[in-house]
Amino acid sequence: MTSLQNQVAIVTGGARGLGAAIAKVLSTRGAAVLICDVLKAEGEATAAELKAAGGDATFVSLDVTDPADWQKVALGATAWRGKVTTLINNAGIVNRSGITGTTAERWNRILAVNLTGPFLGMQAISPLIRDAGGGAIVNISSVAAFVGHNDPGYSSTKAGLLGLTHTAAAEYVDWKIRVNAVCPGIMVSDLNAGGAHLEPWRLATPLGRYGKLEETAKVVAFLASDDASFVTGEEIAVDGGFKSGGAARRISLESGIDLTAGPA
Ligand SMILES: NC(=O)c1ccc[n+]([C@@H]2O[C@H](COP(=O)([O-])OP(=O)(O)OC[C@H]3O[C@@H](n4cnc5c(N)ncnc54)[C@H](O)[C@@H]3O)[C@@H](O)[C@H]2O)c1
Repeated sequence: MTSLQNQVAIVTGGARGLGAAIAKVLSTRGAAVLICDVLKAEGEATAAELKAAGGDATFVSLDVTDPADWQKVALGATAWRGKVTTLINNAGIVNRSGITGTTAERWNRILAVNLTGPFLGMQAISPLIRDAGGGAIVNISSVAAFVGHNDPGYSSTKAGLLGLTHTAAAEYVDWKIRVNAVCPGIMVSDLNAGGAHLEPWRLATPLGRYGKLEETAKVVAFLASDDASFVTGEEIAVDGGFKSGGAARRISLESGIDLTAGPA
């Protein structure tokens, strides 16, 4: 198991869902974890859960779209454990209204949370990681970065986050900060609320099931660790093969339509 001893990690959107799963895996592997979110009660409960399990964790309120909040987090983290080594930009939102149904206000909001948030986070926290001697940033993108999605803002911001990842990886080599992205496939969480609307995504996933939050969290932990010391500017899909184009085989299995039928 990768060790994260001596790491101090900030996890945005860490109150619930994937962020909470990431916080848990990082904590289990020895990192001190600062959980940041707009959801105070849930965030405090997640931090308490990690502490009850023997971990070192605390909660700070953060709206990732607010530069002043990021300054408070930077000061709070430094006061808490004296350094920051790791930033996980996980907070994200989604709409499902298509281009026709998306107002300019909703478009701007998703850009602010999913793309400006990680940008502001890097600006505020990277100097602290530099001062700690280097570390890692992991941005949570999505397979929606590579394929269309019924939310134009979601696909656009998740693709944009890959551009930001590549740019940051190049810029931060001087500071010994590796920057990578993880692109999860479909997982059940509060973001998508489970339900029948997810079934087409499962059907298009060659492994034929939803991903577990811990499966993505473990890849994040790998990228945050020294085991990934020569990995930077990379994006790793954790998607059950979704991006590989294997959907036709899965659909043929479930529909009974034989892919090998037809003229030789
Ligand atoms: N669930 C999936 O299938 C899936 C797939 C691919 C990528 N992702 C990505 O994973 C990340 C986590 O998603 P999730 O499924 O756990 O969803 P979730 O809704 O359960 O969690 C998102 C968290 O982000 C927080 N958040 C939202 N806006 C914020 C803001 N302005 N400032 C601070 N925190 C804020 C929420 O309060 C919540 O705790 C997102 O970036 C999402 O796009 C999820």
